[in-house]
Amino acid sequence: MDITNSTVFIPGATSGIGLALAQRLQAAGSTVVIGGRRQALLDSLAAEHGFGAVQIDVADAASIAAAAATVLDAYPSLDALITMSGIMRNEDLRSSDHMADAIETIQTNLVGTIRLIDAFLPHLLTRPAATVMTVTSGLAFVPLTATPTYNATKAAVHSYTQSLRQQLVGSPVEVLELAPPAVMTDLMGGADFGGMPLDAFADEVIELVASGTDTEILVENVQPLRFAERNGNHQQILEMMAGAGH
Ligand SMILES: NC(=O)c1ccc[n+]([C@@H]2O[C@H](COP(=O)([O-])OP(=O)(O)OC[C@H]3O[C@@H](n4cnc5c(N)ncnc54)[C@H](OP(=O)(O)O)[C@@H]3O)[C@@H](O)[C@H]2O)c1
Repeated sequence: MDITNSTVFIPGATSGIGLALAQRLQAAGSTVVIGGRRQALLDSLAAEHGFGAVQIDVADAASIAAAAATVLDAYPSLDALITMSGIMRNEDLRSSDHMADAIETIQTNLVGTIRLIDAFLPHLLTRPAATVMTVTSGLAFVPLTATPTYNATKAAVHSYTQSLRQQLVGSPVEVLELAPPAVMTDLMGGADFGGMPLDAFADEVIELVASGTDTEILVENVQPLRFAERNGNHQQILEMMAGAGH
Protein backbone atom coordinates (compact mmCIF):
# COMPACT_ATOMS: atom_id res chain seq x y z
CA MET A 1 0.00 0.00 0.00
CA ASP A 2 1.33 3.40 -0.98
CA ILE A 3 0.64 5.39 2.19
CA THR A 4 1.57 8.64 0.42
CA ASN A 5 -0.99 8.47 -2.35
CA SER A 6 -3.93 6.19 -1.56
CA THR A 7 -7.62 6.92 -1.21
CA VAL A 8 -8.71 4.86 1.75
CA PHE A 9 -12.03 4.13 3.49
CA ILE A 10 -11.74 3.14 7.16
CA PRO A 11 -15.05 2.06 8.69
CA GLY A 12 -14.32 2.09 12.43
CA ALA A 13 -12.23 5.25 12.54
CA THR A 14 -14.29 7.44 14.87
CA SER A 15 -11.92 6.48 17.69
CA GLY A 16 -8.94 4.38 18.71
CA ILE A 17 -6.71 2.58 16.24
CA GLY A 18 -8.78 3.54 13.18
CA LEU A 19 -8.60 7.24 14.00
CA ALA A 20 -4.87 7.10 14.80
CA LEU A 21 -4.15 5.39 11.46
CA ALA A 22 -6.48 7.79 9.61
CA GLN A 23 -4.47 10.74 10.93
CA ARG A 24 -1.15 9.18 9.96
CA LEU A 25 -2.27 8.09 6.50
CA GLN A 26 -3.59 11.57 5.82
CA ALA A 27 -0.39 13.18 7.13
CA ALA A 28 1.58 10.90 4.78
CA GLY A 29 -0.39 12.24 1.79
CA SER A 30 -3.35 9.89 1.39
CA THR A 31 -7.01 10.87 1.11
CA VAL A 32 -8.91 9.36 4.05
CA VAL A 33 -12.62 8.70 4.49
CA ILE A 34 -13.61 7.64 7.98
CA GLY A 35 -16.72 5.64 8.90
CA GLY A 36 -18.67 4.70 12.01
CA ARG A 37 -22.09 4.91 13.56
CA ARG A 38 -21.63 8.11 15.59
CA GLN A 39 -22.65 10.91 13.23
CA ALA A 40 -21.74 13.79 15.57
CA LEU A 41 -18.25 12.39 15.97
CA LEU A 42 -17.91 11.86 12.21
CA ASP A 43 -18.88 15.50 11.66
CA SER A 44 -16.46 16.90 14.23
CA LEU A 45 -13.55 14.69 13.11
CA ALA A 46 -14.18 15.58 9.47
CA ALA A 47 -14.18 19.28 10.37
CA GLU A 48 -11.10 19.00 12.59
CA HIS A 49 -8.92 16.82 10.35
CA GLY A 50 -10.33 17.31 6.85
CA PHE A 51 -11.32 13.66 6.45
CA GLY A 52 -14.21 12.53 4.32
CA ALA A 53 -16.82 10.95 6.60
CA VAL A 54 -19.61 8.47 5.90
CA GLN A 55 -21.97 6.97 8.43
CA ILE A 56 -22.03 3.17 8.47
CA ASP A 57 -23.25 0.40 10.74
CA VAL A 58 -21.33 -2.71 9.70
CA ALA A 59 -23.80 -4.93 11.58
CA ASP A 60 -26.47 -3.84 9.08
CA ALA A 61 -26.31 -5.07 5.47
CA ALA A 62 -28.40 -2.17 4.12
CA SER A 63 -26.18 0.38 5.86
CA ILE A 64 -23.05 -1.18 4.33
CA ALA A 65 -24.62 -1.12 0.86
CA ALA A 66 -25.69 2.52 1.25
CA ALA A 67 -22.32 3.61 2.63
CA ALA A 68 -20.42 1.80 -0.14
CA ALA A 69 -22.54 3.55 -2.78
CA THR A 70 -21.91 6.94 -1.12
CA VAL A 71 -18.16 6.39 -0.76
CA LEU A 72 -17.65 5.08 -4.30
CA ASP A 73 -19.76 7.86 -5.78
CA ALA A 74 -17.77 10.56 -3.97
CA TYR A 75 -14.36 8.85 -4.25
CA PRO A 76 -14.19 6.91 -7.52
CA SER A 77 -10.41 6.68 -7.09
CA LEU A 78 -10.80 4.70 -3.85
CA ASP A 79 -8.07 2.10 -3.76
CA ALA A 80 -7.90 0.91 -0.14
CA LEU A 81 -10.32 -0.49 2.43
CA ILE A 82 -9.40 -1.07 6.08
CA THR A 83 -12.06 -3.14 7.87
CA MET A 84 -11.42 -1.65 11.31
CA SER A 85 -14.89 -1.72 12.97
CA GLY A 86 -15.03 -4.07 15.92
CA ILE A 87 -16.51 -4.71 19.34
CA MET A 88 -15.21 -6.82 22.24
CA ARG A 89 -17.40 -8.16 25.04
CA ASN A 90 -16.81 -10.22 28.17
CA GLU A 91 -18.93 -13.38 28.14
CA ASP A 92 -19.65 -15.92 30.87
CA LEU A 93 -20.31 -19.14 28.94
CA ARG A 94 -21.90 -20.82 31.96
CA SER A 95 -25.04 -18.74 31.32
CA SER A 96 -26.96 -18.31 28.05
CA ASP A 97 -27.14 -14.60 28.91
CA HIS A 98 -24.04 -14.17 26.77
CA MET A 99 -25.87 -15.09 23.53
CA ALA A 100 -26.91 -11.56 22.54
CA ASP A 101 -23.31 -10.38 22.93
CA ALA A 102 -22.06 -13.37 20.95
CA ILE A 103 -24.39 -12.66 18.03
CA GLU A 104 -23.65 -8.93 18.01
CA THR A 105 -19.92 -9.66 18.04
CA ILE A 106 -20.19 -12.09 15.12
CA GLN A 107 -22.41 -9.69 13.13
CA THR A 108 -20.00 -6.81 13.65
CA ASN A 109 -16.56 -8.39 13.57
CA LEU A 110 -17.02 -11.31 11.18
CA VAL A 111 -20.14 -10.82 9.05
CA GLY A 112 -19.41 -7.08 8.90
CA THR A 113 -15.92 -7.75 7.58
CA ILE A 114 -17.19 -10.21 4.96
CA ARG A 115 -19.94 -7.82 3.83
CA LEU A 116 -17.55 -4.87 3.61
CA ILE A 117 -15.16 -6.82 1.43
CA ASP A 118 -18.05 -7.97 -0.79
CA ALA A 119 -19.26 -4.37 -1.13
CA PHE A 120 -15.89 -2.91 -2.14
CA LEU A 121 -13.99 -5.69 -3.88
CA PRO A 122 -15.63 -5.37 -7.32
CA HIS A 123 -14.52 -1.72 -7.39
CA LEU A 124 -11.05 -2.39 -6.00
CA LEU A 125 -10.47 -5.02 -8.68
CA THR A 126 -10.90 -2.33 -11.33
CA ARG A 127 -8.07 -0.22 -9.89
CA PRO A 128 -4.48 -0.57 -11.15
CA ALA A 129 -3.37 -1.33 -7.59
CA ALA A 130 -5.44 -1.66 -4.45
CA THR A 131 -5.40 -2.86 -0.85
CA VAL A 132 -7.77 -4.63 1.50
CA MET A 133 -6.53 -4.60 5.09
CA THR A 134 -8.44 -6.71 7.58
CA VAL A 135 -8.05 -6.22 11.32
CA THR A 136 -7.68 -9.23 13.57
CA SER A 137 -5.88 -9.43 16.94
CA GLY A 138 -3.19 -11.26 18.83
CA LEU A 139 -6.21 -12.94 20.45
CA ALA A 140 -6.87 -14.69 17.12
CA PHE A 141 -3.81 -16.77 17.97
CA VAL A 142 -4.08 -17.21 21.76
CA PRO A 143 -7.61 -16.62 23.12
CA LEU A 144 -8.35 -14.38 26.06
CA THR A 145 -10.58 -16.61 28.22
CA ALA A 146 -12.98 -13.80 29.14
CA THR A 147 -13.89 -12.86 25.54
CA PRO A 148 -14.58 -16.13 23.69
CA THR A 149 -16.69 -14.94 20.76
CA TYR A 150 -14.41 -11.96 20.15
CA ASN A 151 -11.37 -14.25 19.93
CA ALA A 152 -13.28 -16.63 17.66
CA THR A 153 -14.32 -13.85 15.26
CA LYS A 154 -10.73 -12.64 15.00
CA ALA A 155 -9.45 -16.17 14.35
CA ALA A 156 -12.14 -16.49 11.68
CA VAL A 157 -11.14 -13.21 10.04
CA HIS A 158 -7.50 -14.35 10.06
CA SER A 159 -8.51 -17.52 8.20
CA TYR A 160 -10.84 -15.64 5.82
CA THR A 161 -8.05 -13.19 5.02
CA GLN A 162 -5.74 -16.00 3.99
CA SER A 163 -8.35 -17.41 1.59
CA LEU A 164 -9.06 -13.96 0.19
CA ARG A 165 -5.35 -13.31 -0.38
CA GLN A 166 -4.98 -16.61 -2.16
CA GLN A 167 -8.06 -16.06 -4.34
CA LEU A 168 -6.70 -12.65 -5.37
CA VAL A 169 -3.23 -13.82 -6.35
CA GLY A 170 -2.51 -12.30 -9.76
CA SER A 171 -5.10 -9.52 -9.24
CA PRO A 172 -4.25 -5.87 -8.53
CA VAL A 173 -5.54 -6.21 -4.93
CA GLU A 174 -3.06 -6.93 -2.16
CA VAL A 175 -4.52 -8.32 1.05
CA LEU A 176 -3.00 -7.24 4.37
CA GLU A 177 -3.92 -8.31 7.89
CA LEU A 178 -3.31 -6.01 10.85
CA ALA A 179 -3.15 -8.07 14.06
CA PRO A 180 -2.77 -5.63 16.97
CA PRO A 181 -1.65 -6.58 20.46
CA ALA A 182 -3.44 -4.99 23.44
CA VAL A 183 -3.56 -1.24 22.72
CA MET A 184 -5.01 1.47 24.97
CA THR A 185 -8.32 2.47 23.35
CA ASP A 186 -12.05 2.57 24.22
CA LEU A 187 -12.58 -1.00 22.96
CA MET A 188 -13.56 -2.33 26.40
CA GLY A 189 -15.15 0.92 27.58
CA GLY A 190 -11.76 2.40 28.40
CA ALA A 191 -10.86 -0.49 30.75
CA ASP A 192 -7.11 -0.67 31.30
CA PHE A 193 -5.91 -4.11 30.23
CA GLY A 194 -2.25 -3.21 30.06
CA GLY A 195 -2.23 -2.22 26.42
CA MET A 196 0.53 -0.34 24.65
CA PRO A 197 0.10 3.41 24.06
CA LEU A 198 -1.98 4.13 20.97
CA ASP A 199 0.44 6.60 19.36
CA ALA A 200 3.43 4.26 19.67
CA PHE A 201 1.38 1.43 18.20
CA ALA A 202 0.08 3.50 15.28
CA ASP A 203 3.57 4.82 14.47
CA GLU A 204 4.94 1.27 14.37
CA VAL A 205 2.06 0.11 12.16
CA ILE A 206 2.58 2.91 9.65
CA GLU A 207 6.27 2.09 9.44
CA LEU A 208 5.50 -1.58 8.76
CA VAL A 209 2.84 -0.77 6.15
CA ALA A 210 5.16 1.73 4.43
CA SER A 211 7.96 -0.83 4.31
CA GLY A 212 5.68 -3.19 2.35
CA THR A 213 7.69 -6.19 3.47
CA ASP A 214 4.95 -8.40 4.89
CA THR A 215 1.28 -9.13 4.37
CA GLU A 216 0.76 -9.56 8.12
CA ILE A 217 1.28 -6.31 10.01
CA LEU A 218 2.76 -7.47 13.30
CA VAL A 219 4.24 -4.95 15.71
CA GLU A 220 6.83 -6.26 18.13
CA ASN A 221 4.37 -6.59 21.06
CA VAL A 222 2.02 -8.98 19.24
CA GLN A 223 4.66 -11.45 18.17
CA PRO A 224 4.59 -13.58 21.35
CA LEU A 225 0.87 -14.22 20.73
CA ARG A 226 1.15 -14.60 16.96
CA PHE A 227 3.93 -17.15 17.22
CA ALA A 228 2.99 -18.87 20.52
CA GLU A 229 2.01 -22.12 18.80
CA ARG A 230 5.31 -22.21 16.88
CA ASN A 231 7.23 -21.25 20.03
CA GLY A 232 5.63 -24.07 22.04
CA ASN A 233 4.20 -21.82 24.78
CA HIS A 234 0.60 -21.41 23.60
CA GLN A 235 -0.98 -23.14 26.61
CA GLN A 236 1.31 -21.33 29.04
CA ILE A 237 0.38 -17.90 27.63
CA LEU A 238 -3.32 -18.84 27.51
CA GLU A 239 -3.29 -19.78 31.19
CA MET A 240 -1.25 -16.72 32.11
CA MET A 241 -3.79 -14.44 30.39
CA ALA A 242 -6.72 -16.32 31.93
CA GLY A 243 -5.21 -15.81 35.36
CA ALA A 244 -4.45 -12.16 34.86
CA GLY A 245 -7.94 -11.12 35.96
CA HIS A 246 -9.28 -10.78 32.40
N1 LIG B 1 -7.41 -2.01 21.33
C1 LIG B 1 -6.93 -3.24 21.29
O1 LIG B 1 -6.30 -3.71 22.27
C2 LIG B 1 -7.12 -4.09 20.07
C3 LIG B 1 -6.37 -5.26 19.98
C4 LIG B 1 -6.55 -6.07 18.85
C5 LIG B 1 -7.45 -5.71 17.87
N2 LIG B 1 -8.17 -4.57 17.99
C6 LIG B 1 -9.13 -4.24 16.94
O2 LIG B 1 -8.93 -2.94 16.46
C7 LIG B 1 -10.16 -2.44 15.93
C8 LIG B 1 -10.40 -1.04 16.46
O3 LIG B 1 -10.62 -1.12 17.86
P1 LIG B 1 -10.11 0.00 18.89
O4 LIG B 1 -9.26 -0.69 19.89
O5 LIG B 1 -9.58 1.16 18.15
O6 LIG B 1 -11.47 0.32 19.66
P2 LIG B 1 -12.48 1.56 19.59
O7 LIG B 1 -11.79 2.82 19.92
O8 LIG B 1 -13.64 1.13 20.41
O9 LIG B 1 -12.89 1.62 18.05
C9 LIG B 1 -13.85 0.78 17.49
C10 LIG B 1 -14.35 1.42 16.22
O10 LIG B 1 -15.28 0.49 15.61
C11 LIG B 1 -16.45 1.22 15.29
N3 LIG B 1 -17.60 0.31 15.33
C12 LIG B 1 -18.00 -0.52 16.32
N4 LIG B 1 -19.14 -1.14 15.97
C13 LIG B 1 -19.46 -0.68 14.73
C14 LIG B 1 -20.53 -0.90 13.85
N5 LIG B 1 -21.55 -1.75 14.14
N6 LIG B 1 -20.54 -0.26 12.66
C15 LIG B 1 -19.54 0.60 12.34
N7 LIG B 1 -18.50 0.86 13.13
C16 LIG B 1 -18.48 0.24 14.32
C17 LIG B 1 -16.55 2.34 16.31
O11 LIG B 1 -17.26 3.43 15.77
P3 LIG B 1 -18.77 3.83 16.17
O12 LIG B 1 -18.95 3.54 17.63
O13 LIG B 1 -18.81 5.31 15.84
O14 LIG B 1 -19.64 3.03 15.28
C18 LIG B 1 -15.07 2.73 16.46
O15 LIG B 1 -14.71 3.65 15.46
C19 LIG B 1 -11.24 -3.47 16.31
O16 LIG B 1 -11.51 -4.30 15.22
C20 LIG B 1 -10.58 -4.25 17.42
O17 LIG B 1 -11.08 -5.56 17.52
C21 LIG B 1 -8.02 -3.74 19.07
